[in-house]
Amino acid sequence: MTSASKRTSVIWYGGDYNPEQWPEEIWDEDVRLMQQGGISLVSLGIFSWAKLEPREGEFDFGWLDRIVEKLHASGVRIDLATATASPPPWLSHNYPEVLPVTGDGVRLQVGSRQQYCPSSPVFRRLAARLVGKLAERYGHHPALELWHVGNEYGCHVSHCYCSVSADAFRDWLRARYTTIDELNASWGTAFWSQQYQSFDEVFPPSTAPTFRNPGQLLDFDRFSSDELLECYRNEVAVLRAATPDIPITTNFMGFFDRAADYWKWAKEVDVVSDDSYPDPSDPDSASLAAMTRDLMRSLRGGQPWLLMEQAPSAVNWRSINAAKRPGQMRALSYQAVARGADGILFFQWRQSVVGSEKFHSGMVPHAGTNSRVWREIEQLGAELSALGDLAGTRVEASVAIVLDWDSWWSLKQGALPAQLSYLDAVQSWYRELWRRTVTVDFVPSTGDLSAYSLVIVPSLFVASADALANLAEYAESGGNLVATYQTGITDERTHITAGGYLGRLQATLGVWVEEFAPFSGPAGQPTPSGVLRGLPSGPADATIWAEYIHAPDAEVIATFGPGALDGWPAITRRAHGDGAAWYVGTQLTGSGLRDLLDRVLGEAAVVGVLATPVDGVEAVRRAGRLFLISHRDDLVTVDGVALEGRGVHIGES
Ligand code: GAL
Repeated sequence: MTSASKRTSVIWYGGDYNPEQWPEEIWDEDVRLMQQGGISLVSLGIFSWAKLEPREGEFDFGWLDRIVEKLHASGVRIDLATATASPPPWLSHNYPEVLPVTGDGVRLQVGSRQQYCPSSPVFRRLAARLVGKLAERYGHHPALELWHVGNEYGCHVSHCYCSVSADAFRDWLRARYTTIDELNASWGTAFWSQQYQSFDEVFPPSTAPTFRNPGQLLDFDRFSSDELLECYRNEVAVLRAATPDIPITTNFMGFFDRAADYWKWAKEVDVVSDDSYPDPSDPDSASLAAMTRDLMRSLRGGQPWLLMEQAPSAVNWRSINAAKRPGQMRALSYQAVARGADGILFFQWRQSVVGSEKFHSGMVPHAGTNSRVWREIEQLGAELSALGDLAGTRVEASVAIVLDWDSWWSLKQGALPAQLSYLDAVQSWYRELWRRTVTVDFVPSTGDLSAYSLVIVPSLFVASADALANLAEYAESGGNLVATYQTGITDERTHITAGGYLGRLQATLGVWVEEFAPFSGPAGQPTPSGVLRGLPSGPADATIWAEYIHAPDAEVIATFGPGALDGWPAITRRAHGDGAAWYVGTQLTGSGLRDLLDRVLGEAAVVGVLATPVDGVEAVRRAGRLFLISHRDDLVTVDGVALEGRGVHIGES
């Protein structure tokens, strides 16, 4: 497996395998087709708790033994699930308090999946017992390659508001604040008469008459991430004790904006794995998928990762589920490999014939093997088996984008200057860099920036003093820093930054922000945008955001155009040695974004993989290989290479 210490010589290929949904006669055909399809790894039994422990304390491993042996005999390695992602009905029947409660007070019921309160000691005890049995029985099986803990933590139940969660939240707050006075000070409870006399008075921020306390909301997001992580740790502890040499993962969900701070989580997995479901009909999804791949690679400092799930073709959970076009699955798979993945896996092996996912594509579709989907699966399996020398190798990037979950969570709260999309802000920068074939890493706000020629900081709304100092020191020591609007607005307690917005960065950037003035228009009308003046290509759009910026110690590169802010600075630059600290007080788009990046990338001496990028074709280098991946429908020539629609070319670089 691709843990930090080990290099394998295989790009894993496979998918979720749920044999419990099928009569055993099918299993022989499954393993035969797996061999035919080049399958090397399957994630086994993710939702099989009810079958493994049909009644509390009664275990049945017979069926799992049989399929494990079949897989082993056919050379397929196993990513064995801990099977705790969907508790069986007996569990909540025997212990109803395990069922989670929403912020509106609704108790979620059985009949779906993930119906457990993350703080439930009963759930954790029963999960750990099952994991112990699995570790004891299969921990030393020669086919075991990897442990797959839970499944997509927080996907359906990211926050629970039940009384067990409320108690756990109080314990978490006690550990964080020690005294209730500290909590009151941190949450600013003097506002609206919210002072607490004891921790017992504190509750999770359930539905309330109007805006809830921002500190309470942010702490509840942090708590919820930590509680889910505790569930994961609860199982990991059992596995580590039993099988210290078997690597452990749990599948992440890309840019997941609910309760999971993946910077924190990634420290606890041996290998990052990700589930990725870009919308096949969205032309923007190729860049969003690329961005996700780059995040996954970045979460453990560049360590190779696994694409744990993707759809062979359509999903079943959008209102209309587009099929992937011929070649699209292959192009997106190569995109993952090019961006550091050491494995390409799918949800799921065989398309279900029953249950709520029967219209979700499978590697073996309802139509069987005489199908486009199967032929593409087989083809990719054969191709990836020839790329084993890439396993364990890394991808270099000289540009980083700062990504921060506290800021993301905070920007989703109400009662803000404007309802902004953090993801859109991040993606606006990423997309333009991707278009230019510039490879990007993501970094946390307090991460080591020294390896990067350029660091972009989109709307780092919540910034600790350490984070601001980290960014300031990077720029002051000659790095190229671009910080945008809504950065350094609050500290980690949600208090307005001491010394004013941007805090320590004011001096680095040479600017300060007097007042926010986001663009707005009459309700129901399109939001107006503004004009930027001073950029080389002429007037450009300023969208979403504007603000009154003073630039006492910076060069003004662009100003706002006609309107209330006419002539006020919009983009500024302050030189620091060979580098510079830039401030961008609006959401750039189109020529404004391109002009700025032309200059900033030029100054930072950052070049794309291709000197002349072509729209819809991405280019990435991994370990001496140049990947050209077309997301276009038509034939296109790039650097002398002809690429069919959604074609892939791998050359030497
Ligand atoms: C994932 C999940 C899988 C399957 C898939 C369908 O979120 O982990 O079990 O439900 O979605 O797209």
